[in-house]
Amino acid sequence: MTNLDILTLPDPVLRQKSAMVERVDDDARRFMDRMLATMYDAPGIGLAAIQVGEPRRIITMDVAREEEPKNPLFLVNPEIIWTSDDERSTYEEGCLSIPDYYAEVERPAKVRVRYVDYDGKAQEMEADGLLATCVQHEIDHLNGVLFIDYLSKLKRDLVVRKFTKAARERERERQHRF
Ligand code: NI
Repeated sequence: MTNLDILTLPDPVLRQKSAMVERVDDDARRFMDRMLATMYDAPGIGLAAIQVGEPRRIITMDVAREEEPKNPLFLVNPEIIWTSDDERSTYEEGCLSIPDYYAEVERPAKVRVRYVDYDGKAQEMEADGLLATCVQHEIDHLNGVLFIDYLSKLKRDLVVRKFTKAARERERERQHRF
C-alpha cells in the first residue's frame, strides 16, 4: 500500500468544497486505509481526503498519544450538529498541508458530530479537548477552509506568500534537474 501525496499551500485544490459520499463500499474503505497510513507516516493526527486531492467528505483522525494504543477514527460525511458556543478553547494548530507553521486558533471547546463510520453505519459522537479541535479543523478542510483563515489578514498573507515563494523555488530547482 503506497502512501498518498499530501497537497500543500498554495495548491488551489485545498480550497475546493468536497462532495458527499454516496456509499461506503470496499473501494471507499481501501481509500480510507490509505489515508490513515499516509496520516500516520506524515506523521499527523488528522487528514481530510481533499488534502490528498480527493474532494470527498472523508476524514481520518487519531489523537491518541504516541505511548497509547492506536485509536483510528474514520468519519464519512461528518457534520457538526452542536457546538459549545459559550465554552471555547485555544490550541496551537498546525496542518499537514501547511508544514512547519503553527498558530493559535480559538474554537468551540466541545462539539457533537454526526457521521457515517467505516462500516457505513450512522453514528454520533461528542468530542472535547484535542479531538474537538481536530475534528473541527478537518471538517473545515471539507469546506475549503484552512486554519490560517482564522488569523489576521496580515498573518495569513504572510504565510501564503512564504509558501508560494517556496513552491516557486521548488519548481525552479526541479526545472534544473535532468
Ligand atoms: Ni489540516
